[in-house]
Amino acid sequence: MIIFSGSSNKHLAESTAGGMGVNFGHLEIFVFPDGERRVRVIDKVVDENTVVFQSTSTPPDQNYMELFFIVDALKRSGAKSVTAVVSYLGYERQDHVFRDGEAVSLEVIIETLERVGVDKLVAFDLHSVKVPELFSIPVLHLSALPLFAEKIKNEFKDEIILVSPDMGGIRRIKELSESLGNTPFATIVKNRDLETGRISDSQLNGDVRGKISIIVDDMIATGDTTVDAARLLLENGATKVFAFATHAVFTNKAPEVLQKSGIEKVWVTDTINIPQEKKFPKLEIISVSKAIAEGLKNF
Ligand code: R5P
Repeated sequence: MIIFSGSSNKHLAESTAGGMGVNFGHLEIFVFPDGERRVRVIDKVVDENTVVFQSTSTPPDQNYMELFFIVDALKRSGAKSVTAVVSYLGYERQDHVFRDGEAVSLEVIIETLERVGVDKLVAFDLHSVKVPELFSIPVLHLSALPLFAEKIKNEFKDEIILVSPDMGGIRRIKELSESLGNTPFATIVKNRDLETGRISDSQLNGDVRGKISIIVDDMIATGDTTVDAARLLLENGATKVFAFATHAVFTNKAPEVLQKSGIEKVWVTDTINIPQEKKFPKLEIISVSKAIAEGLKNF
């Protein structure tokens, strides 16, 4: 096996390859003045099983195009197979038609990934458990929940309540609750304006009074969902609020919004690379590289 990486999350690829004792392959990625990319595989890959890491986070289109070109270059260079480790699958939230006339962007992405030659795909905490069913190739769907459960067991000794900040996260919160010995959980019903994407209102189901509340979500993008949930929990008597999310999508204002909020600490993973300027004092990063290494060994 040879592991390659696109530009978006090289650190995760290198740490996974290092942990597995697997060779790290070399690519030449040249960016022309107009922004176009030229990708070339430097190592010999004939009859090799290859793995490409790319997190299709911001800027998603550029990161996807780069991934498509890497896969094409590997296939043209004779690779026996290409497994794409897309630790954050951009466009995963656009998995069906929400309003008449919309494109199903995720289906376009999946068709392209398969058409350029991806043989297998490794993904992390997909927005919906149904996403793997949209692929024709095998998908290994990994989760950060076991890592979060371990962290919660070690960090919190007082009474806690898990909180899903929206109804889409109920399966996730139930699974985490079970793995923590049926820890109680609460849910928030969140409504969004389908045109602007902004939260229009939210209601809490569950009793958080006097308890440490732990919000768990698949991703934090603007931070609005997490911060709005924290506000609601504190208004309803939670003693302290903490947050866990797998993907640190972090649009520009998110770090500031999270740091200024009533949340004590935010844990995210390294499925998306977080540049120095987006790190903030309340943030802690948990690495998923061991989970990916384990997953790749048996996939
Ligand atoms: C929504 O369904 C997701 O699970 C996240 O709650 C959401 O995408 C987070 O986005 P933001 O941080 O912009 O509210």
